[in-house]
Amino acid sequence: MKNIVLIGFMGVGKGSIAREIVKQSDLVALDTDDIIESMENRRIKKIFAEEGEEYFRALERKVAQWLQKEVKGTLISTGGGFFKVPNLSKIGTVVYLSAPFDTIYNRILAHPDAKKKLRKRPLFQDIEKARNLYEERSGLYKKAADMIIDVSGKEISDIAKEILKKVK
Ligand code: S3P
Repeated sequence: MKNIVLIGFMGVGKGSIAREIVKQSDLVALDTDDIIESMENRRIKKIFAEEGEEYFRALERKVAQWLQKEVKGTLISTGGGFFKVPNLSKIGTVVYLSAPFDTIYNRILAHPDAKKKLRKRPLFQDIEKARNLYEERSGLYKKAADMIIDVSGKEISDIAKEILKKVK
């Protein structure tokens, strides 16, 4: 089976949806941010602060090459900018999780650990900058995707079911 690659904006729920898909199937999941943090033995926030964004993007490209070569039949959740790596579609079936910016922002704010969720995301420090990034990227996510799933107003378990049904 091909890998499933979840892409979408910061906070849209890529991680939660990946965990739910794992629960509902026999798939095993990997997360590109987790891989990068373990490669570097430091948090994304620290990598951005100490090395800058371009260094982080180079790590994403390295992870992408590894996934493309070595990983099969796996559910892969990605950081919000990972979709820009070359040859994304060679990694697997690309599923774009889509929701309006305000829905995403409110989802983060509704979380009991909202402050922490925002603090760990270097590109979500200023809401207007994040909104601009969203506007800039939303068309690009669509172009990169094999499949678009609108997640707004849906239960996580239903989204997972929908993805599993569609990728079969
Ligand atoms: C980023 C999203 C983050 C993380 C990094 C950069 C982005 O992942 O990879 O902070 O460029 O959108 P999440 O989408 O899990 O927040």
